[in-house]
Amino acid sequence: MKLNICCIPGDGIGPEIVKEAKKVLNKVAEKYGHEMNFTDILMGGASIDVHGVPLTDEAIATAKASDAVLMGSIGGDTNTSPWYKLEPSLRPEAGLLKIRKSLNLFANLRPAVLYPQLSGACPLKEEISAKGFDMLIMRELTGGLYFGERKTIEENGMLKAIDTLTYTEEEIRRIAIKGFEIARKRRQKVTSVDKANVLDSSRLWRKVVNEVAKDYPDVALEHMLVDNCAMQLVKDPAQFDVILTENMFGDILSDEASMVTGSIGMLSSASLNDSKFGLYEPSHGSAPDIAGKDIANPIATVLSAAMMLRFTFDLDEEATAIEKAVEAVLDKNYRTCDIMSAGCTQVGCSQMGDLLTAEI
Ligand code: IPM
Ligand code: MG
Repeated sequence: MKLNICCIPGDGIGPEIVKEAKKVLNKVAEKYGHEMNFTDILMGGASIDVHGVPLTDEAIATAKASDAVLMGSIGGDTNTSPWYKLEPSLRPEAGLLKIRKSLNLFANLRPAVLYPQLSGACPLKEEISAKGFDMLIMRELTGGLYFGERKTIEENGMLKAIDTLTYTEEEIRRIAIKGFEIARKRRQKVTSVDKANVLDSSRLWRKVVNEVAKDYPDVALEHMLVDNCAMQLVKDPAQFDVILTENMFGDILSDEASMVTGSIGMLSSASLNDSKFGLYEPSHGSAPDIAGKDIANPIATVLSAAMMLRFTFDLDEEATAIEKAVEAVLDKNYRTCDIMSAGCTQVGCSQMGDLLTAEI
């Protein structure tokens, strides 16, 4: 099979971790007889430095022309980087929002799994972590507050900032369908998270999710308010299978869920549109403080590449080979510094890539 993959190394540790993911993918290609063509584009700060904007139309066209996009991470230190002196629409994050919207990537899948080998890293009490957990946050990614109209005006000598939160029935329905479809392949449970006791957009969310649920009688549905969900994630994370939620709630809850695993350097994500096309990226950020030191954990990016093989290319065997390689390296007690514990062997980013490649 011929795979045309657009890569976004991005900023901070992005280039290092994407390099290791390519290494692993090339080994997969060699072993299973595929042809992988990688085309790099600039996004975020890397693009600002060259083009003055976080994402050019040419870069979007290259991404659109490929089968899938594999991304590292974008952004810098918001306190010190000159990128954050630019107006908001020219900052690194604007590039990410633009590519999501341009490619219609409305469904964001963020798994949060407690790996048994890493359960010691889980910050929760042992009586809670002992149960293990394996949830998937399905976040709506191209609507809501992050894409509504916004402005700052002056009214009676006072500055006033306005952000608007809108959702159409259709935007809710298509993400709900994705949520129920994926729950069907997992443990058949959807927890839909909203703030229906206050927000109109949440009341519409709940109504549409209830309608969609009628087509999935095999999937159990519950509704949960977002503030309660934030508590439940630390109290009893094992109760969750698929968490279905809107853009901002999903942004916040997915960070919380990844922290609860204790190993954010292990968590992958996929952003999908209505076809097989997707953008795959680690759930963690660009970690500018450790960039260029060869100590970052490339596993989240490598696992994102596995998600890409599975969702975009239907290459289940190859995806499983990557996931098994990760387990094997963990079983042999190799760890990057973020997941290091006593008795294990600490390795750097490129060495971790080599170890994973050797297991394929
Ligand atoms: C994420 C990030 C982005 C988001 C930022 C960088 C715009 O936090 O992918 O979760 O909020 O979506
Ligand atoms: Mg976020």
